[in-house]
Amino acid sequence: MTIHIGAEKEDIAETVLLPGDPFRAKWAAETFLTDVKLVNQVRGMLGFTGLWNGNRVTFHGSGMGMPSLSIYVNELIRDYGARTLIRIGSCGGMQNSVAVRDVILAMTASTLSTPSRGIFRDLNYAPCADWSLLNAAAKAAEKRGVKTHVGGIYSSDVFYDERPDLNEQMVRHGILGVEMEAAELYILAARHKCRALAVLTVSDHLLTGEALPSADRETSFGDMVEIALNAAFP
Ligand code: ADE
Repeated sequence: MTIHIGAEKEDIAETVLLPGDPFRAKWAAETFLTDVKLVNQVRGMLGFTGLWNGNRVTFHGSGMGMPSLSIYVNELIRDYGARTLIRIGSCGGMQNSVAVRDVILAMTASTLSTPSRGIFRDLNYAPCADWSLLNAAAKAAEKRGVKTHVGGIYSSDVFYDERPDLNEQMVRHGILGVEMEAAELYILAARHKCRALAVLTVSDHLLTGEALPSADRETSFGDMVEIALNAAFP
């Protein structure tokens, strides 16, 4: 047990898929895994471990934002031995070439700041995905026929952004989408010699104002989970 995770050490798999929403972890475990066990419910942050095609997988909520993700990922890596961590979440589209429902595989994650900012000080560290996961995810997405983009995203600390000038620069410099967790996941994975990737569905669009209808969210989320599982176990 850790401060935020009630699981026994052996309850957590080496491969952990991280939706922001704990109920997404429950839905994914019940939909894709066999022999499912609830392994955490401290503060309502649900974790489940089971088997996918004979491989042990944990689905664990990360919460919203990098400080929350940092708590869970630190404990999953340092106390439970997680080695492959894949965020499965949503993002806001930031390019006209990116449409709602498309999938983005985040090759890099730019930020203004992360919980690790203090240790980097004046270094603008470039958080990046693990190549083997990114490559396998791109192949899995192509095989499923899901429209997929691979490139840079922006990990923000705010959902209700008060700096439109910054978004303009992101768009200008080819950032595909905005979300709130990937950069710190990539930094923690690098620090602890783990593999990480963020697989994101475009749920809304900053340029067009379009948003994914809630009826479509489950299908899109399912696509993402399948891409992530196939990337982890190619
Ligand atoms: N996640 C999904 N859509 C987002 C947005 N527009 N901004 C930040 N995070 C998001």
